Amino acid sequence: MLHNKPQKSLHVAASHPLGTLTAEEAYIWEKLDLTRLPRHVAVIMDGNGRWAQKRHLPRIAGHRSGTQSARTTIETCARLKIEALTLYAFSVENWRRPKTEIDFLMQLLREYLRKEMPLIQKNDIRMRFLGRMDELPAGVQKDVREAMEKTAGNKGMVLCVALNYGGRAEIVDAMNSILAERNGNGASSQVTEEQLSRHLYTDGLPDPDLLIRTSGEMRVSNFLLWQIAYAEIFVTETLWPDFNRARLLEALVEFQKRERRYGGIREGEPSDENPARAAGH
Ligand code: FPP
Repeated sequence: MLHNKPQKSLHVAASHPLGTLTAEEAYIWEKLDLTRLPRHVAVIMDGNGRWAQKRHLPRIAGHRSGTQSARTTIETCARLKIEALTLYAFSVENWRRPKTEIDFLMQLLREYLRKEMPLIQKNDIRMRFLGRMDELPAGVQKDVREAMEKTAGNKGMVLCVALNYGGRAEIVDAMNSILAERNGNGASSQVTEEQLSRHLYTDGLPDPDLLIRTSGEMRVSNFLLWQIAYAEIFVTETLWPDFNRARLLEALVEFQKRERRYGGIREGEPSDENPARAAGH
């Protein structure tokens, strides 16, 4: 782990996509191959409550601090020209939390959308929201709609905020959307994977190549169940409010060490159909 490296800032060429790097970031940056970045990064931002608890602060202080990590992650991914970033902000299960925490999270999101709009526009980011929007408070729905409208013409990274999101709910919604379409035109052929993908909230986006989960839990938590079929999963012990740019770069470097086979075999690996290779020739 590189957590204790000196934080002295290092001035690099003005043209560096990330601007000024700390010594630790520059060290990790050297290992990154910019031609092999993931197209879509998805993040389960976990550990806000624990971060606050460790500091004897209320849980909401952890959520507020977590917005800084969201900002850093959004800006860094946009500057790296990653095609899509999806952040899991509120799940369908999160309604089970105390009302005060839910209200705070909704307010925080509204505040975030208002405050961060200049950064989103500056980075040419297009915003999308994944989830059952019609179940959200009216004010949140309005802000969500406005954020999508204001950024609709942007051409850079797509930032998806999963809000009132559930992976199973998404698949059910997709099936119902297919049925509704069919009732209209009477088609009755079987549902294909492509068709289902087109009816998911993520229609048009590549599936995530990398799923990051902070704070150590080895769970998928009903997140993008269909889309992460072949994603590389990176779980870090770092709590979300501590997930800074160095930790993100580290996750990208780790992703590049993985060998992605999509159920096939390694390139050059001996196979029954290729005895020459199998014999080591
Ligand atoms: C999980 O931590 C975090 C959440 C449920 C909320 C995430 C929301 C933010 C970081 C706010 C900003 C969001 C955006 C998109 C700007 P937890 O409360 O489950 O932590 P714990 O497991 O330690 O209790």
